[in-house]
Amino acid sequence: MTLTLGIETSCDETSVALVEHGRRIVSNVIHSQIDLHKDFGGVVPELAARDHLERLPQLLDLAFDKAGAGPDDVGLIAVTRGPGLAGCLLVGVGVAEGLSASWSRPLTGVNHLWGHIYAAFLTRPDLEPPLLGLVVSGAHSDLVYMPEHGRFVVLGRTRDDAAGEAFDKAARMLGLGFPGGPALDRLSRTGDAERQPLPKPSLPGLEYSFSGLKTALLYRIRDLGENVTDEDKADLAAAFEQSVVESLLEKLNRAMLQRPSLTEVVVCGGVAANTLLRRRAADVVAGRARLTMPALELCTDNAAMIAAAGHFGPAHQAATVDPSLGWD
Ligand code: KG4
Ligand code: ZN
Repeated sequence: MTLTLGIETSCDETSVALVEHGRRIVSNVIHSQIDLHKDFGGVVPELAARDHLERLPQLLDLAFDKAGAGPDDVGLIAVTRGPGLAGCLLVGVGVAEGLSASWSRPLTGVNHLWGHIYAAFLTRPDLEPPLLGLVVSGAHSDLVYMPEHGRFVVLGRTRDDAAGEAFDKAARMLGLGFPGGPALDRLSRTGDAERQPLPKPSLPGLEYSFSGLKTALLYRIRDLGENVTDEDKADLAAAFEQSVVESLLEKLNRAMLQRPSLTEVVVCGGVAANTLLRRRAADVVAGRARLTMPALELCTDNAAMIAAAGHFGPAHQAATVDPSLGWD
């Protein structure tokens, strides 16, 4: 058995995975730091980095135990090199370098955004590029064209907030706490998006912008003042979610029209766990291309997607930390 060992520590999930041939997950253990950060209302970088360092050794043991495998079964080590929080990335890269040296195994540095796309390859083992990808996470809302393994061309991105960031901030305005995206998703299911409609952002081309929508929500909540009811909050959550989702899909639709020969579409990243986005993306793509959305646990950060991207990506990419790395 030759496995790729994946290590992910770019933000607030510590994860270790073993993946066979870049396609089959043998083990994928994930520790979420939600409890560590929730009292602060967001991720505290120093606490996150320290926690990654404390947890990685036991998560490594657990990943090997679950796989019934040992270091001898590892042919490649893949670690997230960016984008992400610098201190957090350093922990993962440092541990991966140590393992690579002591086990004499090659090490490859993986772009986290590539990882989100490769989560789709774990969900559908026959998926192959070329494909069109929409990567929606806490820090990115990017439309990309992937002509072949290991190559990405950015077609559009956000001018300001990412979709996940917008959801998290809206959730905070509505008093839903941290992490906001999943809470806003749950509350939206009980609301009516038409009762308190919010504007849908519209920029030309394939660019996104969510800051105006955020301001519109802020003013609406302010106008309602102390009279705001739980029903209002649910309706506003649903309206906000609808505006973000329809904006994301309007540009995906436009990109599909620009590249009609593409028959594979991937929607991935943490926000791809959103119930409405999953349903509406299926509507928009239906009959035109095949849509792959990673299973829910592979949408949010995990090391299996990093192992998959490491397996298919350029051989032994340097594991130097680059927090602001784009798609390079
Ligand atoms: O990909 P990810 O785990 O981390 C980054 O690379 O940023 O994405 C995290 C983002 C957060 O903003 C979180 O609120 C959002 O994904 N998210 C959701 C849902 N689950 C996670 N947003 C909307 N609905 C969800 N169900
Ligand atoms: Zn991510």
